[in-house]
Amino acid sequence: MVLCVTGTDTDVGKTMATACLAAAALARGDRVAVYKPAQTGVGPAGAGDVETVARLLGRPDRLTVAEGVRLGPAMAPVDAALEAGGAAAVDALPGLEWHLERIAALAGDRDTVLVEGAGGLLVQLTPDGATIADIALGTGAPLAVITRPDLGTLNHTGLTLEAAARRGVRPGALIVGSWPVEPTGVHRANLGRLRDTAEDHGYAWGGALPEGLASATEEVVSGAATALAGVLPPRPGG
Ligand SMILES: Nc1ncnc2c1ncn2[C@@H]1O[C@H](COP(=O)(O)OP(=O)(O)OP(=O)(O)O)[C@@H](O)[C@H]1O
Ligand SMILES: [Mg+2]
Repeated sequence: MVLCVTGTDTDVGKTMATACLAAAALARGDRVAVYKPAQTGVGPAGAGDVETVARLLGRPDRLTVAEGVRLGPAMAPVDAALEAGGAAAVDALPGLEWHLERIAALAGDRDTVLVEGAGGLLVQLTPDGATIADIALGTGAPLAVITRPDLGTLNHTGLTLEAAARRGVRPGALIVGSWPVEPTGVHRANLGRLRDTAEDHGYAWGGALPEGLASATEEVVSGAATALAGVLPPRPGG
């Protein structure tokens, strides 16, 4: 099965959540692939998001990671291509069908494929204007939405879930990417509201990943993953 991962914004913990979802799938015995269609803000030798996932999980045998395109400027993909190489670089970017074929190839011999978008739901990943919502529609995948716990999140989360629903994207899970060690009253109130928002839109509630995962041991990541096992879509035939 394919699961698309988006966020209410950039930097909300999509990659951390993707690592935990991958760990949960590995823990149930799946062969897992993580695919990032467009990685921006990383040079040719740098570590992109899928490399971060592999590192966090200790590079297990049953995990494959792959990137579609990599663009150095830290911008939305199409603008990053424009900045890096002008109109010709934009034209050279692969389109939606190319990504769908890559995902299908990965799904051919893996039980679970996680696809991490760039930024939020409506960021264009390809010159033909495709977004992670289009990848979810093209693959039939449900959507996991990663969100923040702080002020402003209720509006961003509601907007994201509504826009996904309007496009016909299958609801997957709502997960808080990073829960502070010392939550405030705002965080606690938001958590309850986010849970209700998930339920209203048919999303499974994935709870909140603890802050500090970036430097965590594989053990801590596995602990966070256990909490996400319940929101993973079933594996084919499983
Ligand atoms: N639960 C967490 N524990 C520790 N650090 C976190 C957690 N969630 C997010 N971070 C940190 O916040 C930053 C952004 O997280 P992450 O890279 O997962 O976001 P993203 O949504 O994948 O961003 P992008 O849009 O660039 O892909 C990173 O530096 C990451 O280490
Ligand atoms: Mg990321």
